Amino acid sequence: MKFTSIVVALAAAFPAISEALIFNKTQAYADGNLQKYRCLDTLHWVQKLPSCLKQCQINANLGDGCAYDDFACHCANYDAYSPIIEKCAFPPALGGSGSCSLQELGGVRPLVNDMCNFFNATGYTAYTDCYTRLSPKKTFAVIQKQTITILDE
Ligand SMILES: *[C@@H]1O[C@H](CO)[C@@H](O)[C@H](O)[C@H]1NC(C)=O
Ligand SMILES: *[C@@H]1O[C@H](CO)[C@@H](O)[C@H](O)[C@H]1NC(C)=O
Repeated sequence: MKFTSIVVALAAAFPAISEALIFNKTQAYADGNLQKYRCLDTLHWVQKLPSCLKQCQINANLGDGCAYDDFACHCANYDAYSPIIEKCAFPPALGGSGSCSLQELGGVRPLVNDMCNFFNATGYTAYTDCYTRLSPKKTFAVIQKQTITILDE
């Protein structure tokens, strides 16, 4: 893979500052997703990540102003959240101080996209009747400043 295509792939994996809450409805409401993401918390999410990313995810979840386990908030709050995780996870060649390889970053991209697409589209639905501590006020404040972009109707 040429370096330019790697950078393009990474830019897509970790989209830059955006002003829109983006989601694909068809993908979000795919069978099984509600079960898959039900009551999702940081502890369970980091188990899906390569070890180079685990602590970075924890740092971002602690540092973006959302409740730690509130993925509806983290995903809507991507502008605050992504610089924290990128700086932590990206290798020096990509301007970070982390140790993730391009393969690891590329491999995690579809996981993050699917998870955040789900929460962007469904909000707090998957947290109904969960004991998770949530920060809906923060989420709604973040979303209020954005336009909503639905990719697939
Ligand atoms: C939305 O998701 C569906 C199902 O995963 C996919 O087939 C479609 O291409 C997506 N649309 C866009 C615009 O990304
Ligand atoms: C979720 O919405 C945020 C903006 O609130 C956006 O930056 C992010 O790319 C969206 N995630 C997905 C997977 O569409």
